[in-house]
Amino acid sequence: MDKIVINGGKKLKGEVKVSGSKNSALPILFATLLTDEPCAIENVPSLADVNTTLAFLNFIGKRTVKSGSKVKILASGKYKHIAPYDLVRRMRASVLVMGPLLARLNKVDVSLPGGCAIGARPIDIHLEAFKKMGVKIKVEGGYVKTAAGKGLKGNKIEFRFPSVGATENILLAAALAKGKTEIVNAAREPEIVDLADMLNKMGAKISGAGSKTIVIEGVEKLRGVKHSVIPDRIEAATYLIAAAITKGKILLKNVCPEHLKAVIDKLKKCGMEIKETGKTVSAKWVNDLKPRNISTEVYPGFPTDVQAQWMALMCLLKGKSCVKENVFENRFLHVAELQRFGADLTIDGKFVNIKGVEQLSGAPVMVSDLRAGAALVLAGLAAKGRSTVSRIYHLDRGYELLERKLKKIGADIKIVRNGIK
Ligand code: EPZ
Repeated sequence: MDKIVINGGKKLKGEVKVSGSKNSALPILFATLLTDEPCAIENVPSLADVNTTLAFLNFIGKRTVKSGSKVKILASGKYKHIAPYDLVRRMRASVLVMGPLLARLNKVDVSLPGGCAIGARPIDIHLEAFKKMGVKIKVEGGYVKTAAGKGLKGNKIEFRFPSVGATENILLAAALAKGKTEIVNAAREPEIVDLADMLNKMGAKISGAGSKTIVIEGVEKLRGVKHSVIPDRIEAATYLIAAAITKGKILLKNVCPEHLKAVIDKLKKCGMEIKETGKTVSAKWVNDLKPRNISTEVYPGFPTDVQAQWMALMCLLKGKSCVKENVFENRFLHVAELQRFGADLTIDGKFVNIKGVEQLSGAPVMVSDLRAGAALVLAGLAAKGRSTVSRIYHLDRGYELLERKLKKIGADIKIVRNGIK
């Protein structure tokens, strides 16, 4: 099994180029199923989840070629309407195949994704919305079998919770549905806006993306497109926290500062010196930081995908703080691993109470999910001595060139592949 080995205690200094957003690239790649014309997607990060999505598109009937961060997608003209378990179990975002295939083929059978480390991750909001668009649904043999009869019909759809994936799935379905669809209580994440921007470039008629109400006028056909994915705000936030936890100074390039506002505001309140310009953010540790509580919320609140990384930072700040997780039901798997570094953490339902300690000591730890893995790497970078982080395939899903980017700014880090240095 591959491991990351870190000798902690180095201050990180230098420049980091932020990659394209994983959580924007995935829905955008699935959106190419809505047209048979060639599509060119740029600033696509090289990640395991992107490879899984491309494998999915090839299975369904596209021909995809990725060179560097550019992906070309051609149609073979024939599409399968099945999303098999071995692909879906690898990546929950596979559920995004439903919207486009219902819109194009009027049917799709998707293997139930099953839970994941951070929770059951149901898809009831997606399915309720599809029913409102005239989709018949039955669950059989571990598959959700759906059929849209004579075609998807636009409707007014109110979400009980502003689900990111459900908002994306309905955007993808409604773009080619008959009539108008209105999504009320829609997710407002930047990734939703990026997807809507691309769909509109393909000829869709979408307004209100980024607000709580999105209106989509269905059209007959969508054309091919060239589109560049927005920068990854979660990767960017992770590196800002890396600068804070190692008392360093970094300059992030190719980033959208406005997508990071909640995290930047909190880091400024802790005492980090942060300057935002058009596409860069600089972060400098100037003196001892003060702990600050966070409560995760949907966008534009503090992102749940930065909760674990924030907790790692709070472990080393003198004083008490508290982290509340409101979005997922089980997103504290990193707590036990952070305790192995010597952190003082207590779980109390949706809360984790943190007491800052003088120092963390390097330890062997294990990654449970993508962002928990990021938190363990951050703790290892700050801890005294050697840490080994195992099950790093989780990290390969969401952090492009993590080891290389950290090494470039002074981290003593290396990946040991299958025990070979
Ligand atoms: C997206 O997941 C992101 N993934 C997640 O990032 C992110 O944590 C999440 O949005 C919240 O911001 C991608 O974009 C690929 P949700 P998604 O639907 O769409 C519940 C990462 O680390 N829910 O907004 O699955 C759900 O269980 C990943 O990059 C239902 O109950 O998130 C969760 O508690 C992790 N029923 C909450 O809503 C549903 O039908 C938020 O889920 C759908 C969701």
